[in-house]
Amino acid sequence: MCCAHGAALLGHGHPAVAQALRQAIKLGFVNSFETEFHEELARRVCALIPCAEKIRFCSSGSEATLHLIRICRGFTGRNKIIRIEGHFHGYHELIYIGGQPPPDKFPENRNRPYLESAGIPSEFANLIIPLPYNDPPALRQAIAEHGKDTALVILEPVNYNSGCILPQPGYLELVRQLTKDAGIILFFDEIQSSFKKSSGGAQHDFGVIPDVCTIGKSLGGGLPLSAFCGRADIMDMCKPIGPVQHSGTFNAHLVPVLAGLAFLEEAAKPGFYPHLRALEVHFHEGLDRIINDYDLNMVAPHHGARFNIILGRRTPALRYEDAFCHSRDVMLQLIRECWERGLYLHDYGGSPAHHGYSIQHTKADIDRALNVLADVLKAMKPVLKKPCASRSVTRG
Ligand SMILES: Cc1ncc(COP(=O)(O)O)c(C=O)c1O
Repeated sequence: MCCAHGAALLGHGHPAVAQALRQAIKLGFVNSFETEFHEELARRVCALIPCAEKIRFCSSGSEATLHLIRICRGFTGRNKIIRIEGHFHGYHELIYIGGQPPPDKFPENRNRPYLESAGIPSEFANLIIPLPYNDPPALRQAIAEHGKDTALVILEPVNYNSGCILPQPGYLELVRQLTKDAGIILFFDEIQSSFKKSSGGAQHDFGVIPDVCTIGKSLGGGLPLSAFCGRADIMDMCKPIGPVQHSGTFNAHLVPVLAGLAFLEEAAKPGFYPHLRALEVHFHEGLDRIINDYDLNMVAPHHGARFNIILGRRTPALRYEDAFCHSRDVMLQLIRECWERGLYLHDYGGSPAHHGYSIQHTKADIDRALNVLADVLKAMKPVLKKPCASRSVTRG
């Protein structure tokens, strides 16, 4: 139930992807210019993703956020980025700052954004304004103070990277309105959320349309393919129309483009989302029943084909620090016990990260997973019933 961190929504060895690979062998793997297949993929994705008037392709999620942040800066002539704590947007210098600070760097993160990797110059942190998710007053204040210097507000509409934290009713609408009023670009990072619940992404699921977004992971059917897209006037900042550079030998590589077309073909079949939805309902009804029966202090929030496990609380988190009650050591033990019984949950260092299923999973697979979980959770009942032991956090 790792599914390549969300990239393998078609599962492994899917025949449609295998066929795309055979087609690539006939055509040639790499040409570094566009073909009718690129055009077809662009046309199809733009028809599905509500904000997408124009699109460009690259390989990874990190590349997509990097390029699109540059475009947002080029378009607005501003440099600051408002971002949300707990949200993850890739590993590069522009944004790997202030997202997931450890609890002991919290709430200090809001005054001095935490550098998430050695090697990132601290000067980059001067351009980052981290905010708590689902907090309208914090958002209003940040835009009032920094709006004139801010190029973009970036967020994961479904924060799978820190506990599947969902936007509270009205929050995304407020972000949409405030960014519009302040001339700030609203950027949804849908690298993970795209295609998980519907083919229109979280922007379709919640009915709030950003100016631009990134999509990735499942799009390539398991091959490295990501994209950034959005309003035509913003996308036209790219050379040769505008002054912003975006290029690269392996961007829009033909093999993932063909696999992407195969993915979209599968996702468009009438049974695709109903099947994923049936798995979601079956899994969570079963898991919630086990949690209730054993009276455990844990919760498994979900959106579409991905879910998270948070230990130490019984209700979904609303913001990053709500999951500080989660014990990484207990989670690693839970994962180990599952492995030993044949269920693979990826460890992510024991964090409250995401897991999921693919179109090739069946209800019988879900039943097997639930049987393992029932066994493991029963064995771990004493430790999972314990109230949260970790420190509480003062809001900054
Ligand atoms: C929301 C989000 N953005 C960006 C990324 C980075 O993607 P990649 O690992 O392909 O660079 C990820 C990866 O997990 C992600 O979940």
